[in-house]
Amino acid sequence: AVKAVEEIRDGMVVGLGSGSTVKYAIEALGRRLQSGRLRIAAAIPTSAETEQLARSFEIPLSTLKVHPVVDLVIDGVDVVDRQSGVMIKGRGGASFDEKRVMERARAITIIADPRKLKTGLQDITVPLEVEKTQLRQAILALKEDYGYLPIERSQVPDWVAQRGHTLIDIWVPNIANPAAFERRLLDINGVVATGIFP
Ligand code: A5P
Repeated sequence: AVKAVEEIRDGMVVGLGSGSTVKYAIEALGRRLQSGRLRIAAAIPTSAETEQLARSFEIPLSTLKVHPVVDLVIDGVDVVDRQSGVMIKGRGGASFDEKRVMERARAITIIADPRKLKTGLQDITVPLEVEKTQLRQAILALKEDYGYLPIERSQVPDWVAQRGHTLIDIWVPNIANPAAFERRLLDINGVVATGIFP
């Protein structure tokens, strides 16, 4: 996290991912800014937790509307395939916003401890963000058309709920073609983001 924050230069727009690992980066960024040796244009948070922590360090915050190009995103990961670099994220329910910010990024630095590294993508839980109004149909499609056992998350972070989204987890024995698999999931009415980051 500290190394990732060392990559940040004056004037940059920084995307701040979510999760327990990113917290260390937010803290390190806060310290660099407070030392007066770094000035960033703005930071874009991807969850309420990140926003709150960044605020506590007086990190200047913005949105993609105001800053549509992000120079560097720092984010965590749930699982990363060491060979392909394909990531599974979103366990904390932030994949929708993390994706939007990454799509606008010139560079992405992922920070993770070695437990996140896997060889291949077997035995994986994939979080899905689903439009609340289409939740029932999406669950039905996942069960009947795709044969999954979707598990609704009882606790949905406020930030995600405010977007009208809820969370579902599906367990997948093997993801052979992550991009194609993601496209298939996004074809389901109501699925607005998946935890697959091809
Ligand atoms: C948030 O929804 C996720 O994408 C996180 O980036 C991911 O879950 C990593 O979190 P930890 O750093 O807490 O493991």
